[in-house]
Amino acid sequence: MTRVAIFISGGGSNMLSLLDAMEDPSFGAEPVLVLANSSKAGGLAKADARGVPTAAVDHRDYSDRAGFEAEISKILAQYNPDLICLAGFMRVLTPEFTAQWENRMLNIHPSLLPKYKGLHTHQRALDAGDTEAGCSVHLVTAALDDGPILGQARVPVLDGDTADDLAARVLVEEHKLYPTALRNFIAQRG
Ligand code: GAR
Repeated sequence: MTRVAIFISGGGSNMLSLLDAMEDPSFGAEPVLVLANSSKAGGLAKADARGVPTAAVDHRDYSDRAGFEAEISKILAQYNPDLICLAGFMRVLTPEFTAQWENRMLNIHPSLLPKYKGLHTHQRALDAGDTEAGCSVHLVTAALDDGPILGQARVPVLDGDTADDLAARVLVEEHKLYPTALRNFIAQRG
């Protein structure tokens, strides 16, 4: 069984889609920890309700990223995950941390990478006049939203779409893409 830690910052809808998928024994993975960078992250209570251990490490309690990550690493050592899935985790991780988890940390990003790394992806797609948008699951490397792509899903941009409309349409696909990409990644990893 592959042991998976999931990092969140907010409501955790992608986290829930991963938890749901891992309930299938054929998935070959189990969630061992959901960690948030704020105790206010709504997803923590949802993970707790599913019986998954949770932890909160508030980045505002640390003067630098290294201190924040040292605390995260201490907690990870207690739960001993094989993989980390970033699922709406909105903190940038240091090259030291990403190197430590090289080929063992996945992220979902709400754009068709390499387009629109960083924030405000949906508004940027609308501003560019794109006719399609989507999401990507990729391995995390030191450069932001830049690692090898494991899977993508596309949606049309419709006339009159707002960024919120597009975000909602993409999110539906995120919930399918992330479990599929994780399942395939685990199967290929052996
Ligand atoms: C998702 O749309 C995810 O792709 C995005 O945040 C949202 C989190 O929603 N992630 C990023 O923007 C990462 N840079 P969720 O908490 O409901 O899963």
